[in-house]
Amino acid sequence: MKVNIITAFPEAFDSFLSVSMVKRAIDKGVLDVKIYDLRDYSTDKHRTIDDYSYGGGEGMVIKLPVVVSALRDIPERGKIILLSPRGKKLNYDVVKELSNYDVLTLICGHYEGVDERVKLFFEMDELSIGDYVLTGGELPAMVLIDSVVRFLPGVLGRGDAPEKDSFSWGLLEYPHYTRPREFEGVSVPDVLLSGNHEMIGEWRLKEAISVTVRQRPDLLYRVSPLSFRKRGIHLLLVHYPVLDRNGNVVSTAIANLDIHDIARSCKTFGVKLFWIVTPLESQRELVSKIVAHWTTGYGAEYNPMRKDALGVVRVVRSLEEAVRKISSLEKCDVVSVSTTAKVKERAVSFSYMRQKLFVDYEKAFAIIVGTGWGLDESVIDSTDYVLEPIRGVGEYNHLSVRSAAAIILDRLLGIRRD
Ligand SMILES: C[S@@+](CC[C@H](N)C(=O)[O-])C[C@H]1O[C@@H](n2cnc3c(N)ncnc32)[C@H](O)[C@@H]1O
Repeated sequence: MKVNIITAFPEAFDSFLSVSMVKRAIDKGVLDVKIYDLRDYSTDKHRTIDDYSYGGGEGMVIKLPVVVSALRDIPERGKIILLSPRGKKLNYDVVKELSNYDVLTLICGHYEGVDERVKLFFEMDELSIGDYVLTGGELPAMVLIDSVVRFLPGVLGRGDAPEKDSFSWGLLEYPHYTRPREFEGVSVPDVLLSGNHEMIGEWRLKEAISVTVRQRPDLLYRVSPLSFRKRGIHLLLVHYPVLDRNGNVVSTAIANLDIHDIARSCKTFGVKLFWIVTPLESQRELVSKIVAHWTTGYGAEYNPMRKDALGVVRVVRSLEEAVRKISSLEKCDVVSVSTTAKVKERAVSFSYMRQKLFVDYEKAFAIIVGTGWGLDESVIDSTDYVLEPIRGVGEYNHLSVRSAAAIILDRLLGIRRD
């Protein structure tokens, strides 16, 4: 990879380029760095590169002709990057993508930055290394080069791989220890000395989850909790005991649309099984008939995608039966989570619950949604957790159970990308 750097302070790079992995990359011929001194492109005898900011203010701005001349002087510019606190944030994905380029050209700003019109002369990306302001783009350029170099072939030592580092698999990395085994009474965790690779793997996964939950819970939205799960997440649609508009406990009727839409959401978000709970035999038969039509009958041929979705549907008499069956299928206790549109004192937030799905990856979860006017209090009181209500902009939050289920699953299991 060839990296061109445009800077007003070339000497800032001297030690950076002569040590550690960056030096190794240069020595191995996988990295070639060329520095362009901005002052060489100034046209006055004082080698001035900056001027006052139009509109007033104390700060100086790097002049457009100086940067444009420097850029024009570079024979092969490749991808141009302006280091700037206003840029898109540099992260693992961006670094990995940049490592695929043959040539990068980095522009280091200074003072208030570079005349904005430079972007009209050359296509470029703006990148920031964090939400703070440094005096110049030299350190950000070094950060970028150092992180990209780790992806270049032959740079990291044997056994090291950027794919094993923090961020690469969605979580921060587990802790490392080395000799001595014990220092002033403090020992290395026993498991790491056990030689049991399965146990070590488990320990490292637990530590990685725990440090990510503690330090960077935001990262848990970039990866699915299902990636590390040993047991499934199940969704239960309850038709009894639920409330009617007058607050009476009733049994509601099955809605065909609920079966289809919720099964599709379950399939989309990786829910293992979708349990439809109704004590009425005729209603259970109806569900079985609908499911059979789409999974084994003409519907399966007509719409194979629907076959896939409805394949996750199971029908049971009661909540207890569903939980019992999940427990025997998963061979473990089941953590139950109820949902309600009402505000409950013991309710937990969606982000807390998402963290739980990571931390308790060895447990099965049952997320319970109610039909009618919502789950009866007896159900809510009996569950391990109650989720906070989904809120919109005002008081009104009467969502259909289909919409609520989709939103809940997205918040708990969906992935966000910046
Ligand atoms: C003092 S800063 C300019 C700050 C600018 N006036 C602003 O508020 O956005 C000078 C130069 O340092 C570099 N720089 C400062 N902070 C940075 C960051 N967080 N990421 C990348 N570059 C940064 C940029 O090249 C920038 O042009």
